[in-house]
Amino acid sequence: MKADFWDEHYQNNHFPWDLGEAAPAFVKFFENKNKAKTILIPGAGRGNDALFLAKLGFDVTVLEISEEAIKILLARANEENLVIKTLPGDVTNFISKEKFDFWVEHTCFCAIKPEKRKNYVETITKNLKPTGFFVGLLFDFPLTEEGPPFGGSKKDYETLFTKNFSLEIFEENKFKHEKRQKNELFLVAKLVR
Ligand SMILES: C[S@@+](CC[C@H](N)C(=O)[O-])C[C@H]1O[C@@H](n2cnc3c(N)ncnc32)[C@H](O)[C@@H]1O
Repeated sequence: MKADFWDEHYQNNHFPWDLGEAAPAFVKFFENKNKAKTILIPGAGRGNDALFLAKLGFDVTVLEISEEAIKILLARANEENLVIKTLPGDVTNFISKEKFDFWVEHTCFCAIKPEKRKNYVETITKNLKPTGFFVGLLFDFPLTEEGPPFGGSKKDYETLFTKNFSLEIFEENKFKHEKRQKNELFLVAKLVR
């Protein structure tokens, strides 16, 4: 979808996907990790996960197509005296100078049209450090041509990720948020390219 589509949602205060706080699966995964690491969050929206991870002490950058989302996120970061770097751009075609330790995906993948997902996974591969990890929550419902959200299954994700990643954890999300009814998978994948 084009940036306007997302900008309009943020301008109209209409973001039904927003949990209002960090996803519990990321809280569990990152709270005891070494904080001297860099994190890239694609399609970070209003920044619930970004703010939480920055507060924990990680060096956080977001990559967002929506300028409105970036404005909201920066205002929230400012209120909490947090530094979050922002990269305006499209996840299906982006190369950053800096390479990251973690790529943290949350409801961005489902916003990408199925035919562009291969490009998205290539972007992840190009922007992680050679020792980097993808950590993501991915919807598990039949792939649809109508969205967002567009669906996806474990098999679809395996097909996309096994080329350049080793799948370290790939299971049903054990730490669901009460606002998120759809089935979700939790994937931790190590770059092996
Ligand atoms: C469903 S929202 C999820 C936002 C946030 N991750 C959350 O969970 O609240 C999808 C987000 O991805 C952004 N987005 C959509 N397509 C994108 C693209 N091609 N490149 C970068 N960001 C994109 C949208 O602007 C929007 O903020």
